[in-house]
Amino acid sequence: MSVSTVTKTENGFRPTGASGGPLLEVDRLSKFFPVGGGQTLKAVNDLSLTVAKGETLGVVGESGCGKSTAGRTIMRLYEPTAGETRFEGRNIYKLKGAELKKLRREMAMIFQDPYASLNPRFNITDIIAEPLDIHGIAGSSKERKRKVEELLELVGLRPEHANRYPHEFSGGQRQRIGIARALAVRPKFIVCDEPISALDVSIQAQVVNLLQELQKSLGLTYLFIAHDLSMVKHISDRVAVMYLGKMVELAESSELYANPKHPYTQALLSAIPIPDPQIEAQKERIVLSGDLPSPINPPSGCPFRTRCPHATEKCAAEAPEFREVKDGHWAACHYA
Ligand SMILES: Nc1ncnc2c1ncn2[C@@H]1O[C@H](COP(=O)(O)OP(=O)(O)OP(=O)(O)O)[C@@H](O)[C@H]1O
Ligand code: SF4
Ligand SMILES: [Mg+2]
Repeated sequence: MSVSTVTKTENGFRPTGASGGPLLEVDRLSKFFPVGGGQTLKAVNDLSLTVAKGETLGVVGESGCGKSTAGRTIMRLYEPTAGETRFEGRNIYKLKGAELKKLRREMAMIFQDPYASLNPRFNITDIIAEPLDIHGIAGSSKERKRKVEELLELVGLRPEHANRYPHEFSGGQRQRIGIARALAVRPKFIVCDEPISALDVSIQAQVVNLLQELQKSLGLTYLFIAHDLSMVKHISDRVAVMYLGKMVELAESSELYANPKHPYTQALLSAIPIPDPQIEAQKERIVLSGDLPSPINPPSGCPFRTRCPHATEKCAAEAPEFREVKDGHWAACHYA
């Protein structure tokens, strides 16, 4: 588990997971989409975080809060509206030519739906070797075949699987194929965008275990996106909670679950069922009133105030700062 520290930057303080120094620094990143009528949708709004080498940072929040957009902008699949992402100290949005090509090999993504993300007309060899082909590093056809077989083995599949097609595999196996493809270019950093959400509960733990083993053996760093706090608990060193494009809380995993400071995190945690029926029956469940506001017209002041059980006039007038409320524990609430 990484130890959180704080770094001072030009833009103020930023939360850092410091075990191996930051691999990735996201600095006041925003991604807005024009949606017609002169309006903009603020999918990601002034997001700052760091991910240390070898760390897993979990990112959670309701559907539409901007998790995938953040992941894609951090990988430069989208150009940002504002802000920077530094990977090993370099602002990735400034990279061009050979440097950008190198970055494309250092970052990879694993997607939620392993079926939709695998081309049904390609066999497994062609799917896994596609990134190698794109980067021109597949080598001779013999080498290409050997690399694919190695990758299959790495994710717990058999070399004989290489000539089959996606529909011949179960959901869990398809996600293993997606992981093998992501690993093909030997990335350092992987955005895992809800990689287990579409899988049966019985299979989820297997895929999480595989990701953890790969992290150890290959020294990978993960941004692990999920909509549910229970899914990121075991894999994350630290967890970030997003609401309406903004970060509302960030802390070490055990600290966040034991001691949530933001009313939104408290509500999310209270919704997770506890296996012990007696404790479950006595537990107070915080039910959020109202719907998620539109990111086109977010509420004034604190974006959570329209659903917050503790909202006051100050919350409507003033946006709370994202501040360190306790060592390594950050929250955006006037009263945290
Ligand atoms: N290309 C786009 N153009 C316009 N709006 C977009 C685009 N991509 C995402 N959005 C909007 O941005 C907001 C954030 O979407 P995003 O997909 O990042 O959320 P998410 O947290 O990943 O949700 P989910 O849990 O459903 O995957 C949503 O309101 C979405 O409709
Ligand atoms: S700032 Fe106010 S509205 Fe926002 S989370 Fe805190 S108490 Fe709730
Ligand atoms: Mg998403």
